[in-house]
Amino acid sequence: MLSVDVIVDLQYGDCGKGKISHHLSHTNTYSHVLRYNGGCNAGHTIYHKGKKFVTHHIPAGVFFGVKSVIGNGCVLDPDQFFREIKMLEAGGVKTKGKIFIAENTHIVTGAHKAEDKIRGGKIGTTGRGNGPAYRDKYGRTGVRAKDIKKLKPYLINLYDEWYAKKNAHILAEGAQGFGLDIDWGDYPFVTSSHCTTAGVLLNGLPPKAVKSVWGVAKMYETYVGSKKFQPKGDVFNKIGDIGEEFGSTTGRRRQCNWMDMQTLERAINMNGVTHVVFNKVDVLRTVGAWAVIDKNKVVKFKGEKTMKDFIVKRLRTLGLAKNRIYFSEHKDRI
Ligand code: IMP
Ligand code: MG
Repeated sequence: MLSVDVIVDLQYGDCGKGKISHHLSHTNTYSHVLRYNGGCNAGHTIYHKGKKFVTHHIPAGVFFGVKSVIGNGCVLDPDQFFREIKMLEAGGVKTKGKIFIAENTHIVTGAHKAEDKIRGGKIGTTGRGNGPAYRDKYGRTGVRAKDIKKLKPYLINLYDEWYAKKNAHILAEGAQGFGLDIDWGDYPFVTSSHCTTAGVLLNGLPPKAVKSVWGVAKMYETYVGSKKFQPKGDVFNKIGDIGEEFGSTTGRRRQCNWMDMQTLERAINMNGVTHVVFNKVDVLRTVGAWAVIDKNKVVKFKGEKTMKDFIVKRLRTLGLAKNRIYFSEHKDRI
């Protein structure tokens, strides 16, 4: 049997996918954890055994000794990849024989990074060479992992990996989010990869293998990049401060706003979401403000319960069962 559980971000990245991935790889018996899109523009913050780790390329499965695969939907920066292996080993995480790269994954070169640092400012990229690497991939002038000698020990063919063995139970961990998707995000303020469930399938996986799709959101939205996102009002600075909303890759301050219900609805529908986790309930509780944006209008709530009830009611109209909607307030668990 080949089966896939998917983790997708329903907003603009940074919703806490790393936490869900860490949680699921811990409680379920996956044979693989797959990163299916993006490069080292992503930053996944993971709390493991009381220590904080920030990974960019390597999926969370590695913390539990599960095979961790960087799929061909990603672009890979070999320098960052080796730095990360060192960082994990130094933190006591065993990586030997656990980390793999699809041989047809495209490479982020020094030239890509240099170009992105100069030209990416207009949309506020992370400067990690992501856009130029994907451009060269689709322009058919790219370099692939199998062309890089020092990556040889890590290379696998995903066809063989998924189909040659009898049982692959895969957790597919996405990067970035729906609002940053190349096609469905707010173009051109987007990333260069497919951040949806569709992006998972590009890594050699058939639609019928997908079992659960975990959508991850926050109780408010954040965005990092050049467009203006945060409305006027002190409350948004408070949310940013209390929520520690600084980019895990670049350290930039994230702009904050209320959660937009229509972005959420679109993301749930298009990703085929079966479970939703809303993170950082505790942040709004500390700030003491409860609101969403619905059809371009701010809707304020008296308190936590009325906001949660409103969200659950709306999600049920999209076909989600109440017991598959989670409100979370912990850094390291759902
Ligand atoms: P790029 O992916 O570096 O090209 O950046 C394009 C846009 O996506 C910028 O607004 C970045 O801040 C944003 N972005 C890229 N990766 C992440 C992420 O992991 N979390 C949040 N925003 C991201
Ligand atoms: Mg992140």
